[in-house]
Amino acid sequence: MSKITKPSIMPLMHGDLLRRSNLFRWLREFIEFQNMPAGYYMEFGVLNGECMIDSYRQFRGALTHFIGFDSFQGLPDLSPEDQAVSDMAPAFVKGNFQSMQKEFVRQTIKSSCRIGDDELTLVEGFFSDVLPGYDKSQLAAYGVPMVIYIDCDLYSSTVSVLEFISDLVVAGTWIFFDDYWFYRGSPQHGQQRAIREWLDSQDRIGLSDYGNFNGWGKAFVVYEK
Ligand SMILES: C[S@@+](CC[C@H](N)C(=O)[O-])C[C@H]1O[C@@H](n2cnc3c(N)ncnc32)[C@H](O)[C@@H]1O
Repeated sequence: MSKITKPSIMPLMHGDLLRRSNLFRWLREFIEFQNMPAGYYMEFGVLNGECMIDSYRQFRGALTHFIGFDSFQGLPDLSPEDQAVSDMAPAFVKGNFQSMQKEFVRQTIKSSCRIGDDELTLVEGFFSDVLPGYDKSQLAAYGVPMVIYIDCDLYSSTVSVLEFISDLVVAGTWIFFDDYWFYRGSPQHGQQRAIREWLDSQDRIGLSDYGNFNGWGKAFVVYEK
């Protein structure tokens, strides 16, 4: 069988697949017409800030603050669960997706979309180190989490993030899972597994299925039970 070669243009950015930026743009309308309280944007897995820039361009003026979490050192050590299925996701290895240094990423974001210093927070460190001790009370000043973008590839990283956001999300919070269809689309691995286990443990909230975006991703809206 001939080896599939990489196309020069990633196909997921074209055609009929729902584009993230279009979905973000429509969300401005959702926020307005659902009479949502003031809210902020959170991203887990910033890399060099491309999606943070996209989010600010689409949500400028509609959201109060933009917060990004990343190790800025690439992926962490793989957990046993991630290691067991690494043959299905060969790009997910320790250190891959290493970004520029945090301050360089901050400057890139600022110069690309003119976000104000007081609108942007970047938090550095592996999720398992920084999220459990993170002082969530400082987030209250920004309202509720309106859009949460989870782009950290691995099951174990997604577990840390979902644990962190459990008591923050409200009815109408949007959660984007950028890597939902990885691991050959299996519900047993990666983000799908983390989501299923998280939902099984939740008494307060559930997720309404909205739809796929950018090929690999899937978006949901939180509801309160
Ligand atoms: C695919 S990249 C993110 C791409 C970015 N959202 C964009 O659109 O340009 C994945 C990022 O997740 C980060 N990441 C994954 N697991 C992490 C963890 N457990 N702690 C901290 N950062 C993590 C990596 O450092 C990497 O920058």
